[in-house]
Amino acid sequence: MANALITGGAGFIGSHLVERLIKEGWTVGVLDNLSTGSWDNLDLAQGPSLIAKTWDVSVPWPTEKFDIKWDVVVHLASPASPIHYQRLSLETLRVNSRGTENAIEAALRDGARFVYGSTSETYGDPEVSPQPETYWGRVNPVGPRACYDESKRYGEALTMEYWRRTAIDARIIRFFNCYGPRMQLDDGRVVPNFIRQALLGEPLTVYGDGSQTRSFCYVSDTVEAIYRMMTGSKLAGHVINIGNPWEMTIREFAQAVSAAIEVPLQIEYRPLPQDDPTQRRPDIQKAEQLLGWRPVVDLPEGLIKTIRYFRSRVR
Ligand SMILES: NC(=O)c1ccc[n+]([C@@H]2O[C@H](COP(=O)([O-])OP(=O)(O)OC[C@H]3O[C@@H](n4cnc5c(N)ncnc54)[C@H](O)[C@@H]3O)[C@@H](O)[C@H]2O)c1
Repeated sequence: MANALITGGAGFIGSHLVERLIKEGWTVGVLDNLSTGSWDNLDLAQGPSLIAKTWDVSVPWPTEKFDIKWDVVVHLASPASPIHYQRLSLETLRVNSRGTENAIEAALRDGARFVYGSTSETYGDPEVSPQPETYWGRVNPVGPRACYDESKRYGEALTMEYWRRTAIDARIIRFFNCYGPRMQLDDGRVVPNFIRQALLGEPLTVYGDGSQTRSFCYVSDTVEAIYRMMTGSKLAGHVINIGNPWEMTIREFAQAVSAAIEVPLQIEYRPLPQDDPTQRRPDIQKAEQLLGWRPVVDLPEGLIKTIRYFRSRVR
């Protein structure tokens, strides 16, 4: 039991993490500006151990208002889906640069551990598969995804430099695609897109020819990994991939969603967006060795839980 401050805690991954921490007896602070999240996501976590504040973490923080000393700060605040981070491009650049610095400074003030939520998009459109943490990536620094990819890369550089130059215990997680309940129906990511379209009996939109690959990690597995990253010892200065190494093509994923919802597979092909990565698969050997972690929820099980959540929301 300890005190954790989670930025972006009203979002998809953040809300599941907050719920888990509260269940384990932690006191949890959340700072979120609700740009892509909602306090409704924290309905199940309400109680005296949750202190939630609406705040843009890219501007200096109201830390004094919490009146609590944090043991861990987890920085998850950032738009995560291409639709949102391109709509909020400048805000995305700020939250991963200034926002990350504010989060690190808050951790430093309290002598807290710092965990930065980065992304597999730091690898860009990779030339190697699976991607190990040692791969430097192939990113277009001026393309339409750069506001996200490059700001996350800057956030990582900042985290590592603070770790090198101060006493802070800082760690970086690179999340690969994570899915589950509380994703937004209309955030344009492939999981909610396909589920919404299949539930409405519409064709599933596939960009390109559908041969590009992705790997999908169920949110409870992701949260378990964050928990171990927050609480494990001797992880300072480490960057660790968190994702499911089970890689599939987007066409295969469309088949899996149609089968789970029991509708015939219909696909509508559209042009591939610029800089869309052709392959994404994490090398998770480091997570296995240092965190003793690997995903345990398989795709059919995760899809059933996710579809159950979306069914009541699709009209
Ligand atoms: N979900 C994934 O598959 C995935 C993959 C790679 C990386 N990530 C990273 O994990 C983190 C969480 O992603 P998610 O899928 O839960 O996204 P999300 O959009 O559901 O959650 C992000 C949260 O951050 C909040 N936020 C954004 N800007 C803010 C700001 N300036 N100040 C305060 N709050 C702010 C949003 O309101 C939202 O609640 C992000 O940093 C994202 O880049 C997620």
